[in-house]
Amino acid sequence: MNDWLEKRLTKLSTFESYKKPEKIVKAIKLDSNENKVLGKSLSTNFAIQSAKNIDLREYPMEHLDLFYDKLQKYCNIDKKYLAVGNGSDQIIDLILSIVGKNQEMTTFVPTFTYVINRCQLYDIKVNAIFLDIKDNSLNKKKFIKTAKNSNIIYICSPNNPTGNQFDEETVKEIIDNLKNKLIILDEAYVEFGKYSMSKNIIDLENVVILRTFSKAFGLAGARIGYLISNEKFANIFKKTIQSPYPVNSISLSIASKMLAKSNCVMKAVEDIKRERERLFKKIVDIKSLKVYESNANFIFIQAGNKYDSILKELKKERMIVKEFGNIGQRKGCLRYTIGTKEMNKKFSIIIENIK
Ligand SMILES: Cc1ncc(COP(=O)(O)O)c(C=O)c1O
Repeated sequence: MNDWLEKRLTKLSTFESYKKPEKIVKAIKLDSNENKVLGKSLSTNFAIQSAKNIDLREYPMEHLDLFYDKLQKYCNIDKKYLAVGNGSDQIIDLILSIVGKNQEMTTFVPTFTYVINRCQLYDIKVNAIFLDIKDNSLNKKKFIKTAKNSNIIYICSPNNPTGNQFDEETVKEIIDNLKNKLIILDEAYVEFGKYSMSKNIIDLENVVILRTFSKAFGLAGARIGYLISNEKFANIFKKTIQSPYPVNSISLSIASKMLAKSNCVMKAVEDIKRERERLFKKIVDIKSLKVYESNANFIFIQAGNKYDSILKELKKERMIVKEFGNIGQRKGCLRYTIGTKEMNKKFSIIIENIK
């Protein structure tokens, strides 16, 4: 094989990559922060209606326009500040692809590992500040100081996997102190959170918000994400950075229909938030576990030496959660996506009865 290509492929093969969850038949899948509370029939019906009406011989044109019209209403932000992508993963990738070589990113850990892995692909060095193990708070001063030496900042808000969202003042202060840096604010879980920064950033030159239809909207399989930014960035992203037709017509049509039913989505969000609080109160009383308050649709637990037995019991019930194991000083970490009342009850019974 060509020498440079072989070298490049060998190097790429050593990079960290996303480990796809194992497919288990009839599993109760609560490992990927999908929305299991929103009934499946809603998106199934939208998919059938869309498939019947769409001419797949044609590129997605009017479906994209219709989607932007509905999206601007939902966000209450003009579409000139919005740009769509094939999942927010793809938008992250594209943004990292334009920053150029030998750049550095500052973020905190634990956070969304996809971003950290993708930095490796684009030769971006990652400077990570550890969140406080007690309450997942951020040492703001240290973060800003480190960030001043890099050009890209990634803040996941609310954060995956810890679930917390820093208070608004903290994020505003970080933004105010890093005016000439590209700040990526990942709001994948914002519907479950305390606030969004979307209204504050459309006049700023350097902040891009990422959003997704994979979480609250229950459309992870449709692969739709979007960004919110200033008009110039959104425009260049759409015209030059993004490919001409990043999302297929059926997915766009399903998402438009879902946006028209955002009241159903918001009802599911409220149910999830209520269940999250209920579950948190139960787990927080278990002395051998450490659970963190969450502003997302999942709960992050440090199970310590109870980790293996919890996973064993969950597996007996075919319940799949995200298994992290040890993350730095945090021992036996797992993440549970809030499911239906029945699922959560099953989970809490297992957790409460662990010896
Ligand atoms: C913080 C965060 N950002 C982005 C994504 C990716 O979302 P999408 O499905 O839109 O690619 C995820 C998915 O888990 C996530 O947790």
